[in-house]
This record gives sequence, structure tokens and C-alpha cells, in this order.
Amino acid sequence: MLPFNKPYFVGTETRYIEDAVRSGKISGDGTYTRRCEAWFEQHLGSARALLTTSCTDALELAALLLDIQPGDEVLLPSFTFSSTANAFVLRGAKLVFVDCGPTSPALDTAALAALVTPRTRAIVPVHYAGTACDMATVLGVAGQHKLAVVEDAAQAISSSYQGRPLGTLGALGAFSFHETKNVTAGGEGGLLAINDPELVRRAEILREKGTNRAAFFRGEVDKYSWVDVGSSFLPADINAAFLWAQLEALDFIQAQRCAIWQRYHEGLQPLAALGVELPTVPAYATNNGHLYYLVCRSLAERTALITHLRAQGIAAIFHYQPLHRSPYYASRHDGRPLPRADRYADCLVRLPLYVELDEAEQQRITREVLAFYQQ
Ligand SMILES: Cc1ncc(COP(=O)(O)O)c(C=O)c1O
Repeated sequence: MLPFNKPYFVGTETRYIEDAVRSGKISGDGTYTRRCEAWFEQHLGSARALLTTSCTDALELAALLLDIQPGDEVLLPSFTFSSTANAFVLRGAKLVFVDCGPTSPALDTAALAALVTPRTRAIVPVHYAGTACDMATVLGVAGQHKLAVVEDAAQAISSSYQGRPLGTLGALGAFSFHETKNVTAGGEGGLLAINDPELVRRAEILREKGTNRAAFFRGEVDKYSWVDVGSSFLPADINAAFLWAQLEALDFIQAQRCAIWQRYHEGLQPLAALGVELPTVPAYATNNGHLYYLVCRSLAERTALITHLRAQGIAAIFHYQPLHRSPYYASRHDGRPLPRADRYADCLVRLPLYVELDEAEQQRITREVLAFYQQ
């Protein structure tokens, strides 16, 4: 079976992990953690980049940092992963789901302004497939109503909006280094990019169990104490060592993934004429080769396509179930229909995409998708 995803190992990961182990400092904030964070601060231009144990944790840290309170409202897409929502639900926030856009699974930014109320505190755009949302509108609505913007950039490493790296346009940006993402920190990992300098000091404290340990290690205070709420968001240095190996190979990884994405896009163009939706990359956005999807014309068609590919030994899979219809939140949703989120949940299918997918294998996948539609 050709898998849907296969994590890529650069080859230097175990050497760097061994190096971290031999250094005798394997908890958080070791040499590799600092190296990775410095890399992100340089490449993103953020005031601070903090490694976390996952993107889920980075989002939870963001919600804590923004002091989201019970009853605050947060605007976010319904077509996303539970973590985008959980971070705010854990603080007692009310979720106000936004539908997908007319031509892509990205947030329908035209709907945002009408959903703002006096209780709205934040907008959380998700850069689905690593392709930027319409951030001018997001930032415009947020600026007008003094709302915080937390970018869920889980899938968006190395991608940009009008030349600005994703994850750096809002006050905060959360990235994932789970094994399904373009680079991984050894299976699980994340990062919070802190773009508002005023949030940096408190972010370091919340991430370190509410203590001012970071300031203590910098020699800024003579003892460290419990000074705020917090949790344990800091990953072990061996995860950072793994991630460092991947970051060193990022150009190669990105080139491979984007080449695969492009070949799918060219090979599957005939489907567009049949009414099958293929991904679009707006002029303001870039493509980071994170995932390639098709949007079938119906749920029945998608089920048949997935079954056909599986019979040919190809694992293709659907994506999120819409959160406004989830068992956990459906009864709390305000009842607005979100038909585009429903459609993407029912009809979107993702094709295998990983660095080691060779051209012959990929051609076979493309051939089988086209053969399904020729039947
Ligand atoms: C949009 C989005 N946000 C957050 C997450 C959570 O990432 P992690 O697994 O690193 O916690 C995911 C996971 O795939 C995701 O797709």
C-alpha cells in the first residue's frame, strides 16, 4: 500500500540526538532548543519564537497569553482540527464558527465583520494546506475592533502572505512539527511565534509552569519563583535536536514537496473541466507543498474514489469533520448553517504526498485518479 504520509528522515537526526544526550542537558531550553528558536526568529522575524510540545500546546499558550475569559467570543473556521478550538474552549470562550470561502477551504473573510460582537476577542485564521488566508481582511476587521489575531499556521511553514511569512502577521502564530507536517520534531512538536513584543516576557513565564526561570537563567533575577499561571509547554532538547536536522534540510524537503504538488496539479488538470475542484493559490499566497487535495462533486463520489484508490494499493484520505457539527460542540453552535464547510468535509480528499514518493509511484496515483473519472 502506498501510504498517505511517510515522515522523511534526513539522516542526521540520531547524531544530533546523541549529541544532545552526551551534553548531559536533555530537558528543555538546551543547545538545540536555542538553535531552533534562533533559526525561527531569524527566518520569521518574530520578536520571539518558543518551541512547544505541539501546535495544540502553542495554541493553548496563545489563549492563556491573551487572557481569554469565560464568555469571550472567538471567530474561527469550522473546517479545522479540534486543537484550533480546544485552546479557547479550555478558557471558557464561546466559539463563533466561520464558513469556508467560495473557492477554497480557507476562512470566508467576507463573513467576519458581521460576526463581531462586543464580546469578540480574537480571530483565529487557519492557513489550510499551507496557503494563506486573505489576511488583509482579517487584519482589517481585527484592527477596526481591536481583536487579537492568532494564526493557526500548523501546516504553513515556509509559506507567506504578500511576502510576509505566515505565522508573523497576527500577534501570535502557532506551528506544528507533528510527523505529518513538512518537518517534524521527532513525531510531535510545535512552536509559538510571538510577534507582539509586549507578549514575550509573559509567554516565557507561562511556558515555564508560571515561573520566571527564563529570566533567572539570563541572570535578570537572583532566584526564580512562581509568578503567574502556566503549564509545561517546553519540549525536551532531544526533540529540538531532531527538528534541527530537519531544518538544515528544509530547502531540499520543500523543493521535493513542491515538485510533487506541481506534478499532481498538472497531471490532474483534466478533472477541472468535469467540475472537480483543484487547489488554488491566490496571488497574495505561496504554496509550501504541504498537501494536495481534490474536491469531489459529492460524498458518494469521494467514497467511491477512495475505495477505488485503496483497491489499487493507494491510501487517499479525507480531512476534517466540521466542528460546528461535532458531537462535542454541535449543541453549543449558534445554529447558522455553514454549507461550504460541510461540502469540504464531505467531498475533499487528500492524495499521498511525502518526500520519498518517487515519480513513477506518483504517476500511477495520477493515472488511477484519472481512470476513476474516465469510468
Ligand atoms: C489546523 C491545525 N491546527 C492544529 C493542529 C494540531 O497540531 P499538533 O498535532 O502539533 O498539536 C493540527 C494538526 O494537524 C491542524 O491541522
